[in-house]
Amino acid sequence: MPAELVRVSPAQPEPEIIGRAAALIRSGQLVAFPTETVYGLGANAFDAEAVARIFAAKGRPSIDPIIVHCADEPSEDVVDWAQLDETARRSAQALMAAFMPGALTLVLPRGKCIPPIVTAGLATVGVRIPAHPVAQALIAAAGVPIAAPSANRFSHTSPTTAQHVYADLSERIDLILDGGATDVGIESSILDLCSAPPRLLRHGGVPLEALQACLAAAGLPEGIQVVTRHAAAHGEALPAPGMLLKHYAPRAALTLYESADEAQLRAALRAEARRRAAAERVGLLLAAEDAPFMADLTNVCVEIVGSLSDLAGVAHNLYAALRALDDQGVTCILARSFPETGIGAAVRDRLLRAASGCVVRL
Ligand code: TXA
Ligand code: MG
Repeated sequence: MPAELVRVSPAQPEPEIIGRAAALIRSGQLVAFPTETVYGLGANAFDAEAVARIFAAKGRPSIDPIIVHCADEPSEDVVDWAQLDETARRSAQALMAAFMPGALTLVLPRGKCIPPIVTAGLATVGVRIPAHPVAQALIAAAGVPIAAPSANRFSHTSPTTAQHVYADLSERIDLILDGGATDVGIESSILDLCSAPPRLLRHGGVPLEALQACLAAAGLPEGIQVVTRHAAAHGEALPAPGMLLKHYAPRAALTLYESADEAQLRAALRAEARRRAAAERVGLLLAAEDAPFMADLTNVCVEIVGSLSDLAGVAHNLYAALRALDDQGVTCILARSFPETGIGAAVRDRLLRAASGCVVRL
């Protein structure tokens, strides 16, 4: 039986629909639901058997820990607050006040009711408080925290619509709550507060600059070590489990083009698209500003993700654009790079991973 896809109001979720989904969570089943970043695949975080179903449905390796979603400040059951030193505790308080609910995950000491399978055996747990009203309502109605990775097959592009979830997981789960397209479009930023200085493990919806500014404003050390670079590519130890290079990838082979010179970047994309289009179906991932320069290309599928001056818009559209190119049957994708400021760092990170190291630097 394929999954049931149920529409739910993203702003005012209907209590009867949320009640049904919450009952499934409580009985150990899986429910996909919208958050403001991407869709999550949820199970009762206190139930090891239910969480095992997440790993099976996604085809996810057991070494990859899952984020626990709470409706508000996590209790002692979820986080062992006493394990944190004074600075880390004050940092957690400042960051939670500023960004939670929101697109931030904090790595904290694991509480006593979180089974080891959730955290891949680690003594820490990733905790997020999603802002999306559907996610909030579901967690509250379930009465338990919800363990949820992104609701895609392992290493595929994260889903930003219920239709993306359906395409990846319809044969493997029971219910998908359809609350429309997600707002941010890229996963949460992950900050590890169990090390000093704190480590940024993944760029995401809350920019690094904002995290640093928040700590500085609270009179706390603002130094954050960035360890999101793709250690796995060079055979080094992973800074965190699950930080594999090939992650967030479309089916088509993606090449990322980088240049400080916009004219040179466009000329290279144009020439390569034209050359390859003679033999294969080419996808181009572009900014709105590029479009006039590519209008006459034939046998090329173009996806415009947004303006170079609106990186939040680019983040919002990125994953849907990659999936749209796959759906059009392209065999290769040539992607432009975007400015690295603010949420642009997360966009760049996802494009680098999707490229699996295939980067042309002009
Ligand atoms: O925005 C998001 O974070 C979405 C929505 C659904 O909340 N979730 C998400 O989950 O992106 P997932 O499973 O696709 O990515 C979670 C990543 C893991 O791959 C791992 O790298 C990191 O979070 N993680 C989770 N718990 C951790 C821990 N205790 N220590 C280190 N890293 C952890
Ligand atoms: Mg994921």
